[in-house]
Amino acid sequence: MAVGKKSRVVVVGGGLAGLACAVKLAEEGVNVDLISMVPVKRSHSVCAQGGINACNEIARQQGFSEWMHFDETCLGGDFLADQPPVLEMCNWAPKIIDLLDRMGVPFNRTPEGQRDLRLFGGSLFKRTFFAGATTGQQLLYALDEQARRWEAEGRIDKYEFWEFLWPVIHDGPKGAQCVGIVAQDMRTMQIKAFRGDAVVMATGGNGLIFGKSTMSVICTGGAVSRCMQAGAKYGNPEMVQVHPTAIPGEDKCRLISESARGEGGRVWVPRKPGDSRPPNTIPENERYYFLEEKFPKYGNIVPRDIATREIFQVCVEGYGVGGGNMVYLDLRDKVKEVGREKVLGKLEGILEIYEKFVGTDPLDEPMKIFPAVHYTMGGLAVGFKKNEKTGGLQFGDPANMMTHIKGLYAMGECNFAYHGANRLGANSLLSCIFDGLFGGTCVKNYCADDATTSSAELPESVFQDIVQQETDRQTWLTTNKGDENPYKLWQEMGKTMLETCTVVRHNEKLAETLERCGEWRERYRRVKLSDTGLYTNQNLSFARALRDMLIAAEAVVRGALLRNESRGAHYKPAFPDRDDSAFLKTTLAGFNPADQSVTIEYGPVDTSLIPPRARTYGKKEASASGAAKPAPVGV
Ligand code: FUM
Repeated sequence: MAVGKKSRVVVVGGGLAGLACAVKLAEEGVNVDLISMVPVKRSHSVCAQGGINACNEIARQQGFSEWMHFDETCLGGDFLADQPPVLEMCNWAPKIIDLLDRMGVPFNRTPEGQRDLRLFGGSLFKRTFFAGATTGQQLLYALDEQARRWEAEGRIDKYEFWEFLWPVIHDGPKGAQCVGIVAQDMRTMQIKAFRGDAVVMATGGNGLIFGKSTMSVICTGGAVSRCMQAGAKYGNPEMVQVHPTAIPGEDKCRLISESARGEGGRVWVPRKPGDSRPPNTIPENERYYFLEEKFPKYGNIVPRDIATREIFQVCVEGYGVGGGNMVYLDLRDKVKEVGREKVLGKLEGILEIYEKFVGTDPLDEPMKIFPAVHYTMGGLAVGFKKNEKTGGLQFGDPANMMTHIKGLYAMGECNFAYHGANRLGANSLLSCIFDGLFGGTCVKNYCADDATTSSAELPESVFQDIVQQETDRQTWLTTNKGDENPYKLWQEMGKTMLETCTVVRHNEKLAETLERCGEWRERYRRVKLSDTGLYTNQNLSFARALRDMLIAAEAVVRGALLRNESRGAHYKPAFPDRDDSAFLKTTLAGFNPADQSVTIEYGPVDTSLIPPRARTYGKKEASASGAAKPAPVGV
């Protein structure tokens, strides 16, 4: 780009990754347009509860290290993540915590005044920092304050209630490059282009394609799907996290944080199937603490994919509460040990949620919980530049976090880096903030050194073509004369995806779902809106995203069908083992605009730092009626 020109970057998404990136870019002297569908303080990051992982001096004194954090993360993800980005993230973690502390995040403290740490899944060390059980909210508000400082300076322009519609890609003499976006004001419905020398997507996960999840109801994943349709690749779409502990709800599921288990909560079911006695009357020796019995080393804090499968299985076997799909999560022993006030001091945020939505006091009576879709490990595939000396990333290299489209970056949950086939709890907040802070400099350098075209100098027609494309799409939606209710079609898709493409996967069912994906897309042609007005039309926004959800769902199903192994959250009883010889590779879903098909190819996984190993977490065989005995293989 021409020397001396001031760069402008469009950041899409006002959650932690978007805010962190916007703030970093502003600090670097770059002007930012920050686009968010909701007020940034309502972004889904606000729902994150349990904490953020990092090694600090206290953890180090217990024998923990950044390297162990890295090792746990790779093992937790069943070795599907490229290792250099994971190492860099874990090395940055301690200084990210220091920075957040300086910004005023009210981290819990020990009586000595140190930042407190709690246990979290996949680790035997306390290495998770937390602010009660509302950590995401505290982090989001702290970063929002920093973004507001830069707004006041005129470096960040914030557009709340604007929806990203499509990236603008200019095919210039030196190849295609992202030069902005087209977005819509969700109040006036104005469709407008934003020029950007680079674009950063930070738009979160796609829980809505599974119907109900712990994600906010804006988490359609539409933005990622649109980028895939425009030429980016969707990495490991089949890797979907189902959180072990949530409250099922009519409208959505509500998370009950892993921190409840990290702080001593115990998961159990009655030893007798169908036992309908109230939990407080079931004596200790008639309770089956299946996680503790099967995983004596990790107990209730085994990684999420494992805890979820075990909970699912005891319910399938008929041990669920009252014979149904529920298990108990019990904090009463902890209350006995440390007292009610101390438990409240660490978990009040989630205990309030439970009492509000279920109506019982979770410190008097065990909570009834069941797994729910929670996180999207897959996401836009992004590149990286390895630093051969450190094994981590080359600082400031424009290749880091860039998608297959030059100048289009992806950060936070909407990219596929770090978590492989299963994310460890409390690594999400870390990956979002790391992406934003580390990636911001890479984006700035791209604008200064690598972007071949300044978006400000391009003719208006480059942008108006996409404005027209989106206006036409809107006109089609508001005038289409069909008989399909988009909400009903979505519910049907969500139910089928949830049943066939989450905890346990069978190829016959996946093949059937794939066929249905085709039928749903066909039916979408007849979609009819109940509101066709052009003012605050949420019906329109949802129906538009439904098309993108259908395409993303197809990528998830295709990826799952082809991966004939079990790895992390992807579990096929017919292929119960991980198969590194055939599947230690990244699924890359793409879109062929000519025939509108979803394509699948594969890319390598960088395992240059630690070799993949068996992932057993010391499992022993156990059953509700029998004593635990060692598992036959590979402990
Ligand atoms: O369980 C939780 O508190 C969730 C944390 C996370 O998803 O990282």
